[in-house]
Amino acid sequence: MSQPDGQSNTLDNLLEENRTFPPAADFAAQANATAELHDRAAEDRLGFWAEQARRLQWDSDWDQVLDWSNAPFAKWFVGGRLNVAHNCVDRHVEAGNGDRVAIYWEGEPGDSRRITYSELRDEVSRTANALTELGVGSGDRVAIYLPMLPEAVFAMLACARLGALHSVVFGGFSSEALRSRINDAEAKVVITCDGQFRRGSAAPLKANVDEAVTDTPSVEHVLVVRRTASEVGWDADRDLWWHDVVDRQSATHTPESFDSEHPLFILYTSGTTGKPKGILHTSGGYLTQAAYTHNAVFDLKPESDVYWCTADIGWVTGHTYIVYGPLANGASQVIYEGTPNSPHEGRHWEIVQKYGVTTYYTAPTLIRTFMKWGAEIPAQYDLSTLRVLGTVGEPINPEAWTWFREHIGSGRTPIVDTWWQTETGGIMISPLPGVTSAKPGSAQQPLPGLSATVVDESGTPVGRGEGGLLVLDKPWPGMLRGIWGDDQRFRDTYWARFAEQGYYFAGDGAKYDSDGDIWLLGRVDDVMNVSGHRISTTEVESALVSHPTVAEAAVVGAEDATTGQGIVAFVILRGGSGEDAGGDTAISTLREHVAHEIGPIAKPRQIMVVSELPKTRSGKIMRRLLRDVAENRQVGDVSTLADSSVMDQISAGMKSGG
Ligand code: WTA
Repeated sequence: MSQPDGQSNTLDNLLEENRTFPPAADFAAQANATAELHDRAAEDRLGFWAEQARRLQWDSDWDQVLDWSNAPFAKWFVGGRLNVAHNCVDRHVEAGNGDRVAIYWEGEPGDSRRITYSELRDEVSRTANALTELGVGSGDRVAIYLPMLPEAVFAMLACARLGALHSVVFGGFSSEALRSRINDAEAKVVITCDGQFRRGSAAPLKANVDEAVTDTPSVEHVLVVRRTASEVGWDADRDLWWHDVVDRQSATHTPESFDSEHPLFILYTSGTTGKPKGILHTSGGYLTQAAYTHNAVFDLKPESDVYWCTADIGWVTGHTYIVYGPLANGASQVIYEGTPNSPHEGRHWEIVQKYGVTTYYTAPTLIRTFMKWGAEIPAQYDLSTLRVLGTVGEPINPEAWTWFREHIGSGRTPIVDTWWQTETGGIMISPLPGVTSAKPGSAQQPLPGLSATVVDESGTPVGRGEGGLLVLDKPWPGMLRGIWGDDQRFRDTYWARFAEQGYYFAGDGAKYDSDGDIWLLGRVDDVMNVSGHRISTTEVESALVSHPTVAEAAVVGAEDATTGQGIVAFVILRGGSGEDAGGDTAISTLREHVAHEIGPIAKPRQIMVVSELPKTRSGKIMRRLLRDVAENRQVGDVSTLADSSVMDQISAGMKSGG
């Protein structure tokens, strides 16, 4: 293996990763974020945030940076007023940058659109006027169920402009999942499209909405973007074409000022129970953290960079690092509609070459997929414009980190491994590309102004070289302001565990290395991380037992070389479940059933039919033992099981081809 530049301590054994990659001198010399940023934040944290908030244009100033008197419900920039969409769009036009490209949109079939900031302002204004016509106003909720189309961005910003909350539902979720999210938020309008191009063909999307809205009393209208021109069902009282309603609107819309704490959006994420949580974010603090972190972590130079975040708009990464952070900063960015291997496995690199992408932010699971496809694929493209690479969603294994730097970053680009969550709103822990000596596999240190600690079960910080639980020990501007409609769940989920200390419990295990850098070790609750997507074991279990043939189910996340974790289900079938019970057809029926209930991303990798589940005497399923089986390990201590022979039966079943 050739040695990348700037590598200070070579060790071929990646299992004992202890190399560091200091920033190159020329990069450090031009970097937005310097070491002084840490000093400034350390000497006056709230003063630091007040300075960061000046990145935005406020219609009236705040009188207090932080009000934490009603903890855990924070208020940031109290009394300040702004319009989030104006900050992401109009003010760049007013500053003379209207001709700058905001979005280079690339469709999967190869069609493309370039949208400047002036055009973006017109489109967002038209969409805002259309939503007003449909009766959407401040405080209303709008569900957005769209793939990666420019209209998704227009719709989100139009909501923000009107003070309406968007609830974006990932296009890969099923109609069931969509319905429960629409109902929880009581959305008035649903925005969708006829279909989406995925893997070279048109897949229907509106059909899911039609199924979902059969039982959503709050929905008055469904606004439909035409994308694939496929046949769709139509309800003339309810459904409207985007091109009929939006295109005829005026391109002028005067944005109103909203309070800094005005709600901006709800985004549902899996928790440890079956019911997804509607994470609530507000305006001024969220946008401040989005803009600051996007500038510092990606070293954004809006005049010259072409930024690309490969996340879907349906996840928080798409909200903060496609829509709000980059647009608040006036960035030019690529948005790609399709899958990375359509029509060929070099598609991403072809796009990097076509647009001269400088900054590429993706997920470790995709890097591992690229590794499988082979380094000869990216080698066929000119990737020399790339200058910052980033990852998010799960721990990145040092092998993937090294491959990414070597084969995508030409052995020279910094890599930022960014830790954060839907709940944190923006990046919390990450290297700074011009400052930090990067360590493959570690997210390293909280960013200036942000704070995180690893503590033991009692809430006491652990020492260097020790592991424990990750907590966020100080309020931060982008923090969630609650769970939609469920304050108690908000307190219980995040604040009850370390109530005495007032820490936010992130749900992740972590450790400090001997330098005091943080390594994230994965979830410590019943949430799985599959290809960077949070899926709760209970949600998949509920989906399985909702099938008539299933009596009981237990689900675990087992290590998976590509997806991080894979879903492995153990099911007990009902007596008399038919001849094929436990056969291939029955199992594929169950996998499809989970896809129908939640979405294809939640399909179990493997389903094992068993006759018993390992339970303690109090009836709690011991997932730890099932994980041992699913990961082909020696089964651990079974002494607390009600019936210790259960594990022998399960292991034997697994070996005989489960
Ligand atoms: C995991 C995604 C290790 C973590 C922005 C967290 C990570 C959950 C990293 C949040 C990282 C995210 N290293 N683990 N760099 N980034 N995670 O809400 O378990 O979809 O709690 O937000 O992903 O997932 P979410």
